Amino acid sequence: MHAAVSVRDLMESIIIHGGKPLTGSVETSGAKNAALPLLAAAILADGPVIYSGIPHLKDITTMMTLIAHQGAEVTFDDQSRLHIDSRTADRPIAPYELVKTMRASALVLGPLLTRFGHAKVSLPGGCAIGARPIDMHLKGLEAMGAIITVEHGYIAADAPNGLHGARIVFDQVTVTGTENLMMAAVLAKGETVMENAAAEPEVVNLADSLRSLGAKIEGDGTHRIVIQGVERISGGEIAAIPDRIEAATYLAAGIITGGDVTVTNSVPQDLEAFLAQVRICGGVVETGEDWIRCAAPTRLQATDVSTMPHPGFPTDLQAQFMAMMCLADGTSTISETIFENRFMHVQELVRMGADIRLDGHLAIVRGVGKLSGAEVMATDLRASASLVLAGLAAEGETKISRVYHIDRGYERIEEKLRKLGANIERHSGSEQMIPQVLNFHG
Ligand code: EPZ
Repeated sequence: MHAAVSVRDLMESIIIHGGKPLTGSVETSGAKNAALPLLAAAILADGPVIYSGIPHLKDITTMMTLIAHQGAEVTFDDQSRLHIDSRTADRPIAPYELVKTMRASALVLGPLLTRFGHAKVSLPGGCAIGARPIDMHLKGLEAMGAIITVEHGYIAADAPNGLHGARIVFDQVTVTGTENLMMAAVLAKGETVMENAAAEPEVVNLADSLRSLGAKIEGDGTHRIVIQGVERISGGEIAAIPDRIEAATYLAAGIITGGDVTVTNSVPQDLEAFLAQVRICGGVVETGEDWIRCAAPTRLQATDVSTMPHPGFPTDLQAQFMAMMCLADGTSTISETIFENRFMHVQELVRMGADIRLDGHLAIVRGVGKLSGAEVMATDLRASASLVLAGLAAEGETKISRVYHIDRGYERIEEKLRKLGANIERHSGSEQMIPQVLNFHG
């Protein structure tokens, strides 16, 4: 991902003085990966959509900018709820300068195409954790009658007679592929069946929300989803579910520091695979209607984990769990089966004293007695989170650079961690910049 990064972004860092057990409770924000498709869904609605539970994150702002760019009205009401009215939209285009900063922009392709009969969306390009193509998104749209050409870095999709229902079998589970094609199918003519579809809670949140606006969808939450196309769907009020990945990251912060953390506004059912592993490692897990508590054992036990599509162990928690296993008793193995390059945090953790060896998609993590603070660099969103966790547990000072990665997925992370007792500060770093350079770059 070649995100537009300012000099200030590059200079900003997070400083952590580790070694203190984190305790207390913190509230989970709305889920980034639920909010992004929910915002794109406004393109389908024949009326204003009012949102709640939308987190304040850079990626969300990018998606709002993208939708406004198409001519929709994007406003906030006096209760600071987001309103999107796409009845004024008339430009089904997603330009490179916006798409290059967030690959999830591809989520507007299905809605734009099924609404307007044509769309032009920049190819997302790869990112740090892998090539992340969208070939399955495009194949599904072609099965629904779209003519797709890719030239000059743009996808040009045309469906002059509108899209029709189809039977789509995904070669492998794709979350945004499932979401993109679900939205395309909502206004297509006839029935669409998706086999080997993603069953993530964020997919269910999208289906629930689309149903509340008039869509006909069944099977979400399983790997077979059936959509009956309708003429139109109305505006209405929809809400993003809590962010299960953020919640688990704070629970991991309590465990790795030998503390005891509760996350409120959370859904235990969405984290069953993670919580099962926490129990296997000796952690104490308690859950309620909308809260989860994890307390650390005196010494974490090693375990073996393979990332899998939901309800398996989430790939978005692999880096955070690896940080925990660095301090476990014994040797753990962590297999990353979803992305081809999601071990960028390993070398940084090794700089902090971790003992990790890579063998292809497998990380062998030998537990060590302690981690030591160091200067490390964030490379992608969840890798950054694992470095924060390691810094919280390490002895001494950890300085994490390129923290703009972490701001993409964690709302007010220092504030929430300080509430749990962490010694964490953000430094602009501009004090090291000579004024000329700072002024030049603004
Ligand atoms: C979503 O990405 C999430 N992002 C990711 O979260 C998450 O890691 C991922 O699902 C897996 O759970 C959002 O929801 C915005 P995929 P997505 O399509 O949909 C390959 C985070 O940290 N693939 O499920 O882009 C792909 O390369 C982010 O919050 C194709 O080959 O992931 C990957 O190896 C990171 N062709 C695998 O499938 C396609 O057309 C799963 O990708 C689509 C995907």
